[in-house]
Amino acid sequence: MRFGYFDDANREYVITRPDTPLPWINYLGMQNYFSLVSNTAGGYAFYQDARLRRITRYRYNNVPLDMGGRYLYLRDQANGEFWSPTWMPTRHNAEDYTCRHGLGYSLIGSAYRGIRADVRFFVPLDASLEIWDLAVENLSDTPRSLSLFSSVEFCLWDALDDATNFQRNLNIGEVEVEGSVIYHKTEYRERRDHFAYFACSEPLEGFETQREAFLGPYRGWENPQAVESDHTAHSLGVGWSPVGVHHLRLNLAPGSKQRVIFLLGYHENPLDDKFSPPDSQTIHKGTVTPIIKKYLDPVHVDQAFDALRAAWDDLLGVLQVGSPNEHVDRMVNIWNAYQCMVTFNLSRSASYFESGIGRGMGFRDSNQDLLGFVQMVPERARQRLLDLAATQLENGGAYHQYQPLTKRGNDAVGSNFNDDPAWLVLGAAAYLKETGDWDILEEPVPYENQPGTEAPLLEHLQRCIQYTLDRLGPHGLPLIGRADWNDCLNLNTFSDQPGESFQTTTNRDGKVAESVVIAALFIMAAKELSAINVHLGLADESDRLNHLAAGMTETVWEHGWDGDWFLRAYDHFGDVVGSKTCTEGKIFIEPQGLCAMAGVGIEEGLAGRALKAVENYLATEHGILLLQPAFKQYYLHLGEISSYPPGYKENASVFCHTNPWVMIAEAILGDGDRALDYYLRINPSQREEISDLHRCEPYVYAQTIAGTDSTSFGEAKNSWLTGTAAWNYVAITQWILGIRPEFDGLRVEPVLPHGWDGFQATRKFRGATYEIQVVRQGKGNALSLSVDGEPIKGTLIPAPTADKVAVKAVIG
Ligand code: BGC
Ligand code: NOJ
Repeated sequence: MRFGYFDDANREYVITRPDTPLPWINYLGMQNYFSLVSNTAGGYAFYQDARLRRITRYRYNNVPLDMGGRYLYLRDQANGEFWSPTWMPTRHNAEDYTCRHGLGYSLIGSAYRGIRADVRFFVPLDASLEIWDLAVENLSDTPRSLSLFSSVEFCLWDALDDATNFQRNLNIGEVEVEGSVIYHKTEYRERRDHFAYFACSEPLEGFETQREAFLGPYRGWENPQAVESDHTAHSLGVGWSPVGVHHLRLNLAPGSKQRVIFLLGYHENPLDDKFSPPDSQTIHKGTVTPIIKKYLDPVHVDQAFDALRAAWDDLLGVLQVGSPNEHVDRMVNIWNAYQCMVTFNLSRSASYFESGIGRGMGFRDSNQDLLGFVQMVPERARQRLLDLAATQLENGGAYHQYQPLTKRGNDAVGSNFNDDPAWLVLGAAAYLKETGDWDILEEPVPYENQPGTEAPLLEHLQRCIQYTLDRLGPHGLPLIGRADWNDCLNLNTFSDQPGESFQTTTNRDGKVAESVVIAALFIMAAKELSAINVHLGLADESDRLNHLAAGMTETVWEHGWDGDWFLRAYDHFGDVVGSKTCTEGKIFIEPQGLCAMAGVGIEEGLAGRALKAVENYLATEHGILLLQPAFKQYYLHLGEISSYPPGYKENASVFCHTNPWVMIAEAILGDGDRALDYYLRINPSQREEISDLHRCEPYVYAQTIAGTDSTSFGEAKNSWLTGTAAWNYVAITQWILGIRPEFDGLRVEPVLPHGWDGFQATRKFRGATYEIQVVRQGKGNALSLSVDGEPIKGTLIPAPTADKVAVKAVIG
C-alpha cells in the first residue's frame, strides 16, 4: 500500500494522506541553518549544531508521535471553527491534503470548507532563516472572514539542558516584540551573542509569546485557547516557555487569494554591539532588520526559491542516468544523491531517530558519507576532510566523534575504535579520485586541533596505516579496540552493568580480540595509499604499502577464512566469531563484502564462495541480513550486538549499510544480475508499494529493515542519517553502472544484468561533461569502449582535451 507517489519531473515525493505510518520528513537548509519538517509540519530548526544552537523545541518520543513544529491555524470567524492546513495538530477532516517534499523545501496544504491553504517551507541558500510562504484562497462563492495564527515554541538553545534543567530554565526565557517581529533572546543579556526571530509580512491583530497564554492551561496544540476564543493577550514571555504566535485577520472575497510570509531566523551580533541603545538591554536590531525586510518581500522569496531549485539542478547535474529501471533512475538522479547531501550536512546528529543531542559528527561516518557527496560539493568535501584529519590523534588514531560547532573531538566518547583511521585514507582517496586535487596532500593539518602540531595531510594518512600496524593481535590481524565498523561488536567491553555505554566501557586490556573487518579495510587503505604514493613519485613507499597489503591478505587467508566464508573476528579469549563452529552468529555479512572489495581471494575463487554463502544464509526478500543465526541471548564477551532482540539492529536485521558491499563484490566478480537484484531489494522506491510494511519514507534509505528473526520482518527503522546512502550510491553508480572516478581518470566499466540492453548517462568529471552510451550486444561483460568515436584500449578514459567527451561502451 502507498501513501503517495513520486513526481519525478518536479523531483518531489507527493504524500496524499497525512496519516503516514511514521512521520515522513524532509530537511531544509544547506549551510548553517537547518530544519527538519515532517509531512504534517512537525519538526524543529537549529543553527549549525542540533544540540548547542537549537532554535525551536521538539519533544522526541511524544504522544502523538509527531506533535510540535510549525503550526498555522485558520479560524472561520463566521462560526468559530478552526483547523490547520497541515492537518496536525488539529487532525480535522482535511480535504485534498498534499505534502510535496522536494529538494530543500516542503509544500504542505489542504482545503477545509471552501478555504484552501498551502504553505511552502524552505531555507534560502545563503540565509540563516526559514521561510513559511503561505497562500490562503477562498474557493467558496461567499466572502470569508478568517483569523490566522502562526506558532512556534522556542528552545532555550542547548537542547539537552532545555529538556532537563527546569529549575533554571523556567526562569530565563526572554523575548521582545517590535511591530510584526517576535524576538527570542533568552540568555542574550549575558553571554550569548545570538537571538532568534519570528517575523510576519502583515500587520498584526495581536500576538503571544508565552506558551500558556496561547494554549491555555491544560490544553495542547490541537485546541489553543487563543485560537478558540480569537483573542490574543499580547503576552510577554519572561520565564516559563517562550513561544512565537502571530495573530492576523484575513478577509477574502470569493475566489481571492492572499499570501502571507513568515520568517523564522537566527542572527548573531558582534559581542560589543549587542544592545541599542548601548546601555540598554534591548537587542540591537540594525544588523538583522535588512535581512528580515528582504525576505518578507515576495519578490525576494520567489527569487530565493528559484535559486534553491537552480542549485539543486547543478548539484544533481553531476550525474544523471537513463536506465531501463525507474527505481534506479529515481534514486540515482534524485533521492539517493539528495540523501547523501543530507548525511553530509547532518552526519548522524538530527533526524526523527537521532535526537540531535547524542552524536555529533562521526569520524568513520563522515569519511564514508564523503563517498556519496564528493562529486557534488568537492570544495566542501575538501574542508570536511581537513576538519576530520585535524581531530586525528598523534598516534594515528581518531576521536570517534566531533561537534560541528567547535570542530573539536568529543572527549566523552574518545578514541580507540580501531577501524576509524582506515576510513580517513579511503575518504581522502575518494576525494583525490574525484578531483585530482593532489595539493591537498601538502595541506598542513594539526593533530587533535593543537596549534603547532601541523603536518601535511599525507603524513596523517601514513599515520592511519601505522596505527593499525602498531596494534596487531596474536594472529597478526588488527586488534579491534572498542569496536570496528560494527559499533556493537564489543569484544573488550564485558559489561554487566545496566546503562554502561557498550562503546566506551573497556574491561579487558584489548590485546587479544582481532577484527577481520579492519584487516580488509587496512588492505584497501594500504593499496589506496600505495597508489597515491605512485602519483607522488614515491616508489619505495608505494612498494612498502603494497607489501603490507599483501602481507595482511596472507594473514586473512591463514587466520580469517573459515572454509566457506570469511570469519568475523577473534574474541578476547582468542575464540572465533562468525564461524560455522559457533552456535549463533556463524556468518556475518561485513567481511564477505569487504574482503572481496579488498581483492582478497578474487582469483582463487574463494571470494565467490563467500558470496555464495551470503546468498544461501543471509539473503532475504527484504535485503541481506547482517548475521545468522541471530543471538538469542546476551553474551558478555560480544557486547551490544547481542543486546538487541533477534532480528533488530546489529543483531541480524538487514543492516542496509552493509548490503552495497555485497553488491560491489558481486559486481567485481561479474554478476550484474545478482548485484542489481540485491540493490533493488532495499531500494526505497522499489519498496514504495509495501509502504505499510516498510513504514519509513519511500524516498530515502533507512538504516535497518527488521530481519527474519524479528516479529516485524520487512519493517524499516532509522531513516535518513545512515551510511547506507553513500554506499548504495557508490554501488549502483560506480560498480553496477560502472562509472567510476579513479586517480588517473574516469573508468566506465558497467556490470549489468542480462535483461538490460544498456543505459545512458551524463557525468561531469574534472571540468568535462561525459556523455556515456552503453549498449549491450552480447551476453557477457566484455567491454569495448570508444571515446569521441575512437576505440580505446581498456576501460579507463584518458584525461579529456575538450569540455565534452562522448563515450560509447559496447558490452557483451
Ligand atoms: C547502535 C549502533 C551505533 C552505536 C553508536 C548503537 O546503539 O546500535 O548502530 O553505531 O550505537 O554509538
Ligand atoms: C551506525 C553508526 O553511525 C556507524 O558508525 C556504525 O558503523 C554502524 N551503526 C554499525 O554499528
